[in-house]
Amino acid sequence: MALKTPAEIEQMRPAGRFVAHVLTSLRAYAQVGMTTNDLDAHARGLIEEAGARSVYLGYHPSFGAMPYPGVLCTSVNDHALHGLPSDRVLADGDVLSIDFACDVEGWVADSALTFQLGTTTPEAQRLIDTTERALAAGIAAAQPGARMGDVSAAIGRVGRQAGYGINTDFGGHGVGRTMHEEPHVPNDGRAGSGPRLKPGLVIAIEPWFMAGGSGYVIDDDGWTIRSADGSPAAHAEHTVAITKRGPLVLTARD
Ligand code: MF3
Ligand code: CO
Repeated sequence: MALKTPAEIEQMRPAGRFVAHVLTSLRAYAQVGMTTNDLDAHARGLIEEAGARSVYLGYHPSFGAMPYPGVLCTSVNDHALHGLPSDRVLADGDVLSIDFACDVEGWVADSALTFQLGTTTPEAQRLIDTTERALAAGIAAAQPGARMGDVSAAIGRVGRQAGYGINTDFGGHGVGRTMHEEPHVPNDGRAGSGPRLKPGLVIAIEPWFMAGGSGYVIDDDGWTIRSADGSPAAHAEHTVAITKRGPLVLTARD
């Protein structure tokens, strides 16, 4: 797993700031009655304006049935991850996750957030808040000299205590010149186990929980991950650099 120098971590800041800015803008822009394609188009405009480059568009890992068609993942309600932007119209009370990664000046940052549109419900808010708390716990555990299992255990503990379905597929990952690098960052694990976190390691930490059970199914599109029981899901993600002085959240939104 490649380590970045302090100078390289500085070079990653514009990507982190841009990804944070796009998510903040999308959150303000998203309204009931819009389609998820409208959100994707809004993000495309921001990318073009900034001279940035989408790392989703055309991305074709082994698990995708076709090259990825958008610049965002937009996952609504029971869609947990990798929801394709479409002509689906957003409805009152929808739980919307937006995941966005982008290349700025040759470095990638990756971040996601979940929020409810229109009328909020306590159950959905609890799910979203728990995912955010798990992300915060994972970040707090990402100290130099700690181990990956400390991050994973911190995430899993928060989800389990809340009684949610935790599936350890599709966790976090290293980030750098490309979106997906070593190491894998599992969303549950044993404290004190796994590789040591050294200054210079940059990882995306990304808990996703389902309100019901831990099973998921993959849609016919080959991308969209849905909860098997139809329960809503939430996802939160930041790109975090481990530095000598502790974790630095490159995609922090203000
Ligand atoms: N950003 C997602 C992740 O957090 C991956 C998106 S896959 C893509 O790892 F195909 F949409 F790019
Ligand atoms: Co990611």
